[in-house]
Amino acid sequence: MLAVRDLVVDVQGSRVLRGVTFDVGEGELVCLVGRNGAGKTTTMRSIMGFRRPVSGTMTFGGQDLLALRPYQVARLGIGFAPEESEVFGELTVAENIAMATWVCPNPRPARERIAEAYNVFPRLERYRERGGQALSGGERKMVSIARALALGPKLLLLDEPTEGLSTGSPVSAHSAMPCSSQNRISTTCPISPTVSMSLSAEKLSLPAGRKRRAGTRPWHA
Ligand SMILES: Nc1ncnc2c1ncn2[C@@H]1O[C@H](COP(=O)(O)OP(=O)(O)O)[C@@H](O)[C@H]1O
Ligand SMILES: [Mg+2]
Repeated sequence: MLAVRDLVVDVQGSRVLRGVTFDVGEGELVCLVGRNGAGKTTTMRSIMGFRRPVSGTMTFGGQDLLALRPYQVARLGIGFAPEESEVFGELTVAENIAMATWVCPNPRPARERIAEAYNVFPRLERYRERGGQALSGGERKMVSIARALALGPKLLLLDEPTEGLSTGSPVSAHSAMPCSSQNRISTTCPISPTVSMSLSAEKLSLPAGRKRRAGTRPWHA
């Protein structure tokens, strides 16, 4: 589904990714694990088209991602919940989530995809009419993940999805996500080793911009 090969990316003149290679297959949950600054966010931003790689290839369902802009990558059905959980402050929670349904054509009705997103984070029902600027960090995180889910993505990229969420909710959210769609969702997520160990089928360790180790359960960092 997603194939990343020998990805090399520079940020501000420094080499951050030095040949990252991995696949995310249909129905797979893959976790990128690495210390701060290892390049997890850079990998995701490169897939989304926010960074132009120096070399390497990235394809999604056989389609070349390298020349695409972020909105074009989203239209292919790749949902992205960024680390910073950006939400539109002047829009309500409901509007923030609903706008994902306008991004790309999807045979499944928008209301079904929106309901699915609220199912993963039922607490958001209470905040539907609240403005984005009035949300806490954890609430913004939930809205940004819910928005990515409402796209009805074929592939979901979650950058630090547990950050700011109360204990308990990350695990329940993670457990719910792969089953929350009729489509099979593959997830790439850098999350804490403990959570990733219990939930993911595959973990890729990413020290200093290189994939050092890959493994399937059981796996120890
Ligand atoms: N906007 C930026 N300007 C300069 N350096 C950056 C920027 N974004 C990331 N970097 C650098 O790129 C490296 C990888 O960062 P990042 O991909 O955010 O790592 P991670 O998500 O694994 O913590 C770090 O050394 C970081 O300092
Ligand atoms: Mg990061």
